Amino acid sequence: MGKKLRLDKLLSDTGRWSRKEARDLIRGGSVTVDGVVLRQPEEKADPDTAAIAVDGVPLGWTAYRYLLLNKPAGYLTATEDACAPTVMDLIPAELRKAGLAPVGRLDKDTTGLLLITDDGALAHGLLSPRRHVDKVYLAWVDGAGTEEDCAAFARGIVLGDGTKCLPARLELPRPGLCRVTVREGKFHQVKRMLAGRGLPVKALKRVSMGPLKLDETLEEGRVRPLTEKEIAALRQAAGLI
Ligand code: URA
Repeated sequence: MGKKLRLDKLLSDTGRWSRKEARDLIRGGSVTVDGVVLRQPEEKADPDTAAIAVDGVPLGWTAYRYLLLNKPAGYLTATEDACAPTVMDLIPAELRKAGLAPVGRLDKDTTGLLLITDDGALAHGLLSPRRHVDKVYLAWVDGAGTEEDCAAFARGIVLGDGTKCLPARLELPRPGLCRVTVREGKFHQVKRMLAGRGLPVKALKRVSMGPLKLDETLEEGRVRPLTEKEIAALRQAAGLI
């Protein structure tokens, strides 16, 4: 069982409301705990056991924070680094929280979808090779892929150092552009798989991770909290519900 936390903290910890907005919602009668309207921000509830809702929408698992970053090139996927800027530097102050960490890694020059959360169980579930959560990348390459390349991806590419990759999907939307779906996350995997087929990658962008899609309205370098629906879908993909 978790511990009891103040209602205004529970709401603001989701990243969707400031502490002041949370207090206003509570005082205005929008927040229920186990079906009962509570109007005192300092009242406490246990998010693991109580059904907390805002205007009838369950707060769900949002004692944790879940952020979607559209990663620009030039940032390390790390929580800190002495020399280079990290993806954590892109999180605005009001969304920062102790324990936040990226789920998986994108190379410094790779752009696109990066999930950042303090929900360790979700991260573990999404990254577990057993769960086989699909990651989809767009790769701009020198040259044009062939049906033979697609077949080699489907069989499972063997990397230069002998590492055998799981079967993956290669699609060819147009010459010079590849769409790659992988279920694991080996070091430089997509670049190495394509390079092994004579298709060196010039730019790489992740567009989805399991059910979570890159929000095309989210500009590069921007972060937004996930919606309740996105969190639920991810928790399901991670085997938590
Ligand atoms: N594969 C790569 O080669 N690089 C990434 O950043 C992600 C997957």
